[in-house]
Amino acid sequence: MTVVDEAHRRSGEDRGEGHQRPAGPAGPAGSEVLAEAGRRRAFAVISHPDAGKSTLTEALALHASAITQAGAVHGKAGRRGVTSDWMAMERDRGISITSAALRFDYGGMVLNLLDTPGHADFSEDTYRVLEAVDCAIMLLDSAKGLEPQTLKLFDVCRNRRVPVITFVNKWDRPGREPLELLDEIEQRIGLRPTPMNWPVGVAGDFRGLIERGTRDFTAYTRTPGGAGRAIEEHLDAAQAAEREGAAYETAMEELALLDEIGADVDMESFLAGESSPVLFGAALPNFGVRRLLEGLCELAPPPAPRIDVKDEPRAVDAPFAGLVFKVQANMDRNHRDRVAFVRVCSGRFERGMVLTHAATGRPFATKYAQAMFGQERETVDVAYPGDVIGLVNATALRPGDTLFEAQAVEFPPIPSFAPEHFAVVRSKDASKHKQFRKGIEQLGTEGVVQVLASNLRGDQAPVLAAVGPLQFDVVLHRLEHEFGARADLEHLGYTLARRTDTDGAASLAGQRGAEVLTRRLDGALLALFTDKWRLAAIQRDKPGIVLDTLVAGTD
Ligand code: G4P
Repeated sequence: MTVVDEAHRRSGEDRGEGHQRPAGPAGPAGSEVLAEAGRRRAFAVISHPDAGKSTLTEALALHASAITQAGAVHGKAGRRGVTSDWMAMERDRGISITSAALRFDYGGMVLNLLDTPGHADFSEDTYRVLEAVDCAIMLLDSAKGLEPQTLKLFDVCRNRRVPVITFVNKWDRPGREPLELLDEIEQRIGLRPTPMNWPVGVAGDFRGLIERGTRDFTAYTRTPGGAGRAIEEHLDAAQAAEREGAAYETAMEELALLDEIGADVDMESFLAGESSPVLFGAALPNFGVRRLLEGLCELAPPPAPRIDVKDEPRAVDAPFAGLVFKVQANMDRNHRDRVAFVRVCSGRFERGMVLTHAATGRPFATKYAQAMFGQERETVDVAYPGDVIGLVNATALRPGDTLFEAQAVEFPPIPSFAPEHFAVVRSKDASKHKQFRKGIEQLGTEGVVQVLASNLRGDQAPVLAAVGPLQFDVVLHRLEHEFGARADLEHLGYTLARRTDTDGAASLAGQRGAEVLTRRLDGALLALFTDKWRLAAIQRDKPGIVLDTLVAGTD
């Protein structure tokens, strides 16, 4: 057993893998599931817009040969192909509203990359995807370091204890000093960086990467246009020292410093979400990407038992159980349908199985299960823990729902995330009020937006709360096209929400720059504030008031 296997085994024990035996079926079926789960890695890339997520996705897919030529994944105009392209609105804007899951087979492993929508389409879906992965790649732009959306997504990873591998991108361009970037990671988010390789050459004059463990050097050679794999020329230490001179010496001095402070990769703290292996590279010229893939296979944990609502682990080889982490309507314009994306948590999935929907106890037929490869859909016959399947005609399913076979289980609900955009929505046409209400209710239960209400505002004018403003556009579009109810939005000046209680609601009544509303889905009382200064002033004036932070909120 390697050190890595041992660490994975131990982390599994921490997460309850030790309890696996009693729940799992004995015999060959169970061991097949364990073997298949063991070679799966479900991961996401977390980053700020423009850090290079689409470029990196292409490069990863290229190395894993999922696609033949770089340029086929990107969702931007002219470079589209694999990423989703379902709604007309999405096509017009050239952005990806829906998250697709990409599957790469690499070196005997099955890598499932779950797309986290970014840009203006940053939404609750972006966060929910992180409920369905076992590892995240935190992608940083070498010139910018940690940026706001990366920080928010990292918060969710930290809350879920998702291990994070850091990839510092765009090393071929002028950027910051590597030690300075590591320092920023440690100081700002308290994550201990443990570099696996190290760049040679100053920013903008990139010469290559030294592998920390072996001191082998891979020389960087610019490739025209970036399409295709970069030429990776391997040199030993003596050859590298001779060719790169002072640049190499500087890098070696920095490496000696890292060795001294003991910044070595440490599986236990990585799996606990306390340290992060760091890799440098450049996604566009496809340099250092193969090393990232290898690092991912080496370090990212395989699916572990998921904890259920009773706080008990569902063994990986127990009968099938899956978590709905996203519901997407109208993906196929020809057939009005609703697809639920399900992360397989335990057991073997077979198309045609009749599952049970934990929330209602009703049966759910899976005749039309599909594997999602961006806009390509293909029927999936079998899936294992760590895979993502798309279930068509999933009208009854909502994000956070559990589906199971044979042995009942229910996973805890996905937390609702701190909204930062608020708007009142009103029907444009009084005669369509029934359709409007039905639409709002449906979109709220689906989790497209959070729906808030108060006696003061009344039933005709609910307040929508969203993590990203594009969620509002999706609501208007769907209200009109699916429910036949055209609506208007009135943006409210609030930017943050806190959870309060009835006493808090009473003491905030009539306060300037604040308002308390009830969240329809769970009855939670949310206090909205115009800005953090208002919030701070109220907290100063009313020291006892309950104002709890919601997950991934801005403080
Ligand atoms: P995103 O999905 O995270 O938003 O980022 P995306 O991949 O679209 O990359 C943002 C920009 O950064 C793109 O340039 C892309 O070519 C560039 N980029 C990504 N990785 C690297 C890298 O390793 N080195 C260099 N030099 N550039 C990189 P753009 O001009 O904004 O877009 P495009 O015209 O190339 O599509």
